[in-house]
Amino acid sequence: MTQIPRAGVIGNPISHSLSPKLHGYWLNRYGIEGAYTAVKVTEDALEETLRDLPKQGFIGANVTLPHKTSVMQFADNITDRATLIGAANTLTFKEDGRIFADNTDGYGFMANLRQGAPDWDPKSGPAAIFGAGGAARAILVALADAGVPEIIISNRTRAKAEALRADFGARISVIDWVQADHMLEDAKTVINTTSLGMVGAQDFKVPLNRLRKDAVVTDIVYNPLKTPFLLAAEEQGCLTVDGLGMLLHQGVPGFERWFGQRPEVDEATRQAVLS
Ligand code: ATR
Repeated sequence: MTQIPRAGVIGNPISHSLSPKLHGYWLNRYGIEGAYTAVKVTEDALEETLRDLPKQGFIGANVTLPHKTSVMQFADNITDRATLIGAANTLTFKEDGRIFADNTDGYGFMANLRQGAPDWDPKSGPAAIFGAGGAARAILVALADAGVPEIIISNRTRAKAEALRADFGARISVIDWVQADHMLEDAKTVINTTSLGMVGAQDFKVPLNRLRKDAVVTDIVYNPLKTPFLLAAEEQGCLTVDGLGMLLHQGVPGFERWFGQRPEVDEATRQAVLS
């Protein structure tokens, strides 16, 4: 009996993940016989699970918190972008059991921005990033790759922003969190990568009155879809792009690799995931 190809998302907690809805929708839309499930995995069980999944018919997996960094040690091949970011979110299991690790977060970020703001030009001016966690790292690499001339970072814990500057160098500067609004003066691309504004988290309190009207503003928080950060940017006249698309687009390369069909990210996909 041949098994249907399986993929899934591994993390802990995992019940909140939207990835099963996303991939399930795509499998159905393209009439692909396959399965995609959420797999709850503790840190202790990570290696054993990774060795076991291919035996259960898994051809790949997405990886979410808290395993994005630790999963790297079990990979046999790691893409340059995953190495640079220091984390992986997309695994492919080879038939011989080898694990191929990639990071598509930066791709997802960029594809979302390009879809939501088609006229956005990365080279038009500096980018300003709030936050310096794992997501900021992936976004920073993607922005630098796209040719953004200067990237300004502000983070509550300044040392984490300084560490990003130490790793990625020349084009990056750091501004203190209490002065974060000053990085908006010249910024053409503005990104919130903190958890501020998410349902259940604290509010985003940095004033946005220094935002340029021609800045493109995006948030990685997608619950709520229109965060107070994006609403404030809209009030300043800026074009905004919500964070749901980043999640949807980051799933594209994995789905294509596993199931052989490049899936669309469109309004129907958004609605399927939100339903
Ligand atoms: P991720 O990997 O998703 O980016 P993370 O590494 O936990 O998640 O990063 C969360 C980001 O939100 C960090 O930049 C964090 O700032 P610190 O480095 O100072 O922790 C930021 N953040 C979370 N809560 C915050 C708060 N109340 N005020 C300001 N920044 C906050």
